[in-house]
Amino acid sequence: MIERPRGTRDLDPDEMETRRKIEQNLRDLSTSFGYREILTPTFEHTELFTKKSGPDIVNELYHFEDKGGRDIALRPEFTASVIRAYNEGMRELPKPLKLFYFGPSFRYERPQSGRYREFWQFGTELIGPDTARADAENIALAYNCVKNIRLDEFELRVSNLKILDQFLQENDIDIEKRQDIYHKIDKEELEEVSEEYSLGSKLLDFLNMELDEMSNILKDPEPVEYLKEVLDLLEYYGLDEKHLKVDIGTVRGLDYYKGVVFEIDADNLGAEKQILGGGDYNLGDIFGIDISSKGFAMGFDRSILALENEGKLPELDEMDCYIIPIGEESFEYSYEILRELRSKNVITDIDLMGRGVGKALGYADKNDFKYALLVGGNEVEDKSVTIKDMHSGDQKTIGKDEFVREVDEKWN
Ligand code: HAM
Repeated sequence: MIERPRGTRDLDPDEMETRRKIEQNLRDLSTSFGYREILTPTFEHTELFTKKSGPDIVNELYHFEDKGGRDIALRPEFTASVIRAYNEGMRELPKPLKLFYFGPSFRYERPQSGRYREFWQFGTELIGPDTARADAENIALAYNCVKNIRLDEFELRVSNLKILDQFLQENDIDIEKRQDIYHKIDKEELEEVSEEYSLGSKLLDFLNMELDEMSNILKDPEPVEYLKEVLDLLEYYGLDEKHLKVDIGTVRGLDYYKGVVFEIDADNLGAEKQILGGGDYNLGDIFGIDISSKGFAMGFDRSILALENEGKLPELDEMDCYIIPIGEESFEYSYEILRELRSKNVITDIDLMGRGVGKALGYADKNDFKYALLVGGNEVEDKSVTIKDMHSGDQKTIGKDEFVREVDEKWN
């Protein structure tokens, strides 16, 4: 038997309706922040991702040689593609350029709950301004994405990689080694880092300090002051402080980040609880351009799992009318009603199986129709329709035109 590939999912109509609603919510929110949607190809030259994204992603690439002998990869994320697209066709657009995207990404990972080989990302990139206000705008939109889909149990951890860079430099650690150190910190291997770089308890102590204390001990406290400025600016956006935590150990798993970074965890998820990650990065250098960019991506699938765990999934829409023609002689009139209701965007279906009234009503009930419309000889004669309210069970017969008018006024 042929089954779906490991790490992929089939999404049924209920799941798709839920996802479309949440997706629309995120699109509307990002639009309200002045962002506009773009779409890049599902596959790119593998080199785009191997140049700078770092081992975590590169080891997980789905890549293959195409018929023209090119090394092609399914995108593991959108950020590198967006900067490539910017370089290819959007450089002349006025700055700041605010872009958002939504679509599937592919990573050859070991599948488990919340970790898939095909998963969806909703993300944004803010290209142009290299200011604390741009970092704050980026973080504020990320926070609002999570808040707007009604998640409540989450933590937003914020850091500035330049603080750790400064600490490493001041402890005579070759800054070239920073990626190795960051990957270890990301994997919570702090003791290993301390041992390997002879830091004793210094690193752990540093990570546990308040920002003011860090400012005091660093020879150059500028990166700490910058982070403080971003945090102050976040107050303008009305972020609820209970969700916010400064955590200098937040280092991200990708190599292109360079400044303020952040991650959001959903408290009720297990091992794969990071639902969003992003920050200030440099990918322009792949193309020899100097351009500031900041963004984030939200793991759509994990966010939905978290919402489900909080019992906050949006309610599914009900269907409106299910027409049950009783006998072939009522077909013509039944289809007339069907056409009229559909033309008014009323979700209307008609029995296609010629089932008896009892069975057809059972179908309407299971499929969450609000009303069943029974159309027999009497209704054809009087130009009426017998409506059964599927919630209350009440039944009444009214004129067809009156019903259509009522429906139009009530639902449109
Ligand atoms: P990332 O942290 O690699 O960042 O991915 C963002 C989010 O995608 C994660 O927080 C997680 O929720 C979700 N995710 C990642 N891998 C999987 C998976 N295998 N299954 C399910 N969900 C997953 C980026 O991709 C950056 N491009 C974010 C960014 C945009 N930075 C700047 N701009």
